[in-house]
Amino acid sequence: MPTTSVFGAQWGDEGKGKLIDLMARDADMIVRYQGGANAGHTVVVGGEKYVLHLIPSGILHPGKVNVIGNGVAVDPLKFLEEVEGLRARGQQVDGAGLKLSATAHVIFEHHRLIDQLSERWRGEGRIGTTGRGIGPCYADKAARTGLRVGDLLDNAYCRTRLRAALAEKNALIERVHGERPLDLDGQLDRYTALAERLRPFVCDTGALVRSAARAGKRILFEGAQGAMLDIDGGTYPFVTSSNTGANGIAAGASFPARAIERVIGIAKAYCTRVGEGPFPTEQVNATGERIRKQGNEYGSTTGRPRRCGWFDAVAVRYALELSGADGLIVTNLDVLSGFPSIQVAMRYRHAGVERRDWPADLPRFDGVEPVYQTFPGWNEDLTRVRKYADLPAAARTYVEALEREVGTPIQMLSVGPEREQVIPRGS
Ligand code: GDP
Ligand code: IMO
Ligand code: MG
Repeated sequence: MPTTSVFGAQWGDEGKGKLIDLMARDADMIVRYQGGANAGHTVVVGGEKYVLHLIPSGILHPGKVNVIGNGVAVDPLKFLEEVEGLRARGQQVDGAGLKLSATAHVIFEHHRLIDQLSERWRGEGRIGTTGRGIGPCYADKAARTGLRVGDLLDNAYCRTRLRAALAEKNALIERVHGERPLDLDGQLDRYTALAERLRPFVCDTGALVRSAARAGKRILFEGAQGAMLDIDGGTYPFVTSSNTGANGIAAGASFPARAIERVIGIAKAYCTRVGEGPFPTEQVNATGERIRKQGNEYGSTTGRPRRCGWFDAVAVRYALELSGADGLIVTNLDVLSGFPSIQVAMRYRHAGVERRDWPADLPRFDGVEPVYQTFPGWNEDLTRVRKYADLPAAARTYVEALEREVGTPIQMLSVGPEREQVIPRGS
């Protein structure tokens, strides 16, 4: 396996966890490079469901090295909770198989609190944040007031920096938001104590990943969120605070961009979004409800019902182009069984003009209408199909139309949450 980037090509929840777990079989190292515990990556093995938030989705394969890179926003409480949760289910998780970057930024309680409090002030601009402190943590990183994992390990330094940071945050919490400030000493004691439990995992992950590449190890980069939630390329301000695609790897894993050899986008055979913001193909009707029901579309992190709609070829084409994808994997094809017809947005129409390109010049998407093509549906259950040739003709027609429209080869289809529920293309 060449050095591979796997990223979400829609608004998140494309099935990245499932595919990473599957591909991890042939990898030596699995690396998260952005986002934090706002992600919820589901892996189902033998009927057992695991939802991973911070820990890479390769963790269920013994003997692999799972890396949380410097670009990830790390909540130490969530990290340790996840480690303990996996151990309680019989998984071996230790410093040999799980590495945490010393230069990843730390999410503190004040980040989570401010994330939730800020949302109240946004009014119409409400993002629908997961409230995990991601935005405020990355804001502090950019403002150069954040603390990093390595800083936590240096007790005296951590206390000095956290004391200064909290004084300012407490003023914000109290005077702007009108809430009770956090107890300074309590916070200092709590986080310095947590640091000792992190220590066995902490190292220079950038050096580790680069040396693995030099030694010819097979490296898999696991994106979180999706291209349309990317802070630069997505539907700003209704986005997350990091670069979600292959473009995020260089900075977020301290790994040279030119050493990434293969780039794979993941998209559902339809489309979902959690939280606020533009979603041109959304179906706020019986169709959307049926997709939600058949696809069990409820958030893996917050349990919120996901907004559902048709596949948006304009958005996916743009996502694949931004990351320079060599291939696409389409998931949840099984969910579309039973729909009499299926629609795909091939283009957008704006002011009477049809366009194939992503409307970055229309940030609010005002007056943007999807232009649909309708495809016949199929009734067969696809969850046991393992060969492309065994798919109903209507499903093959649908897949081939998507492929033509996004201009990137579809390399694999997924027809259920379990590892083995995949159909390689060309079989
Ligand atoms: P991620 O954030 O991209 O890892 O995706 P999530 O785990 O948040 O959401 C994907 C959901 O779809 C999970 O419940 C998966 O178990 C499930 N899933 C993944 N692939 C398939 C598939 O091909 N078919 C069906 N029916 N479910 C799938
Ligand atoms: P995975 O990795 C779907 C959404 C939130 C919100 C916006 C900002 O599982 O695909 P944030 O917590 O970053 O302040 O949220 O982004 N969001 C996701 N939606 N999947 C995710 O991750 C998401 N992570 C964040 O719902 O609208
Ligand atoms: Mg998810």
